[in-house]
Amino acid sequence: MEQPHVDPGLDLEDEIVRLKVERNAVILAHYYQESEIQELADFLGDSLALAQAARDTEADVIVFCGVHFMAETAKILNPDRTVLLPDLDAGCSLASGCPGDRFRAWRDRYPGAVAVSYINCTAEVKAASDIICTSSNAEAVIRSIPEDTQILFAPDQNLGRYLAKKTGREMVLWQGSCIVHETFSHRKLVGLQTRHPNAKLIAHPECEEPILEMAEFIGSTTKLLRYAVDSEHQEFIVATEPGIITQMVKAAPHKTYIPAPPNNSCACNECPYMRLNTLEKLYVCLRDMSPTLEMPAALRQAARAPIDRMLALS
Ligand code: 13P
Ligand code: SF4
Repeated sequence: MEQPHVDPGLDLEDEIVRLKVERNAVILAHYYQESEIQELADFLGDSLALAQAARDTEADVIVFCGVHFMAETAKILNPDRTVLLPDLDAGCSLASGCPGDRFRAWRDRYPGAVAVSYINCTAEVKAASDIICTSSNAEAVIRSIPEDTQILFAPDQNLGRYLAKKTGREMVLWQGSCIVHETFSHRKLVGLQTRHPNAKLIAHPECEEPILEMAEFIGSTTKLLRYAVDSEHQEFIVATEPGIITQMVKAAPHKTYIPAPPNNSCACNECPYMRLNTLEKLYVCLRDMSPTLEMPAALRQAARAPIDRMLALS
């Protein structure tokens, strides 16, 4: 979606706050949103906390400043509320790399196996899965599966490999990955650590194995934030989307945060999907009550049980 034309004389922040009250709307935002959107959010969180906030809200309208699968999850949990996504094209490489028909054909090859899907997938994949997980509860979800049961894990092979190592469970992995987290350069990271010997590498489990092996701490965005703020260390190299650093600086401004370097000099450690949402699009979606997240009722209902199973464990 193109950047909409809005009157340059408008104070967008004021307008968004005004419209939010008028519509009885709540703004939920992921840490990978640009900082001006983070500032306006009623609730900021990782994928799990955002799903829980969407489930628990009493607002009439949920404005989801995140990506499509997150807004879809909010709609599945809240079918009677209006869910707005400032840019409907805000997708995810993990979700688009795992089409529903190919996923169903894959799981059919393993009768009797339990299919665990990372929340970064389409509703179609969720509907064909047994249980959903996020990066913050994935270990608990895997450990809840009986030892004698085969596990299929989709769509993130890096998170899957990390979980298999952590839990000692063998898993069949879908070969998907996140275009942002696979961009970090091992070679540049080693160089950076030599120049900053006291900096601790903290990494999201969507990163590739060689990066995770170097990390002092691995966790979801919320866990990375808490670790950076609460640990006694003063300097961090942050191997995830740099949007999270906004909250790290806010919570512990005296510490130093260095974004992990991508393979080349592009800004490709910024999620191109997350960053499709802008202040202008947030304003326009609240003004026009569009675009809304719509999905067939049957799909919504089929995708609900695997999400509820996850929430019961979280
Ligand atoms: P979490 O915020 O759940 O750690 O997920 C990160 C991510 O890549 C979202 O797409
Ligand atoms: Fe998807 Fe990666 Fe962007 Fe997260 S950071 S939304 S996993 S492409």
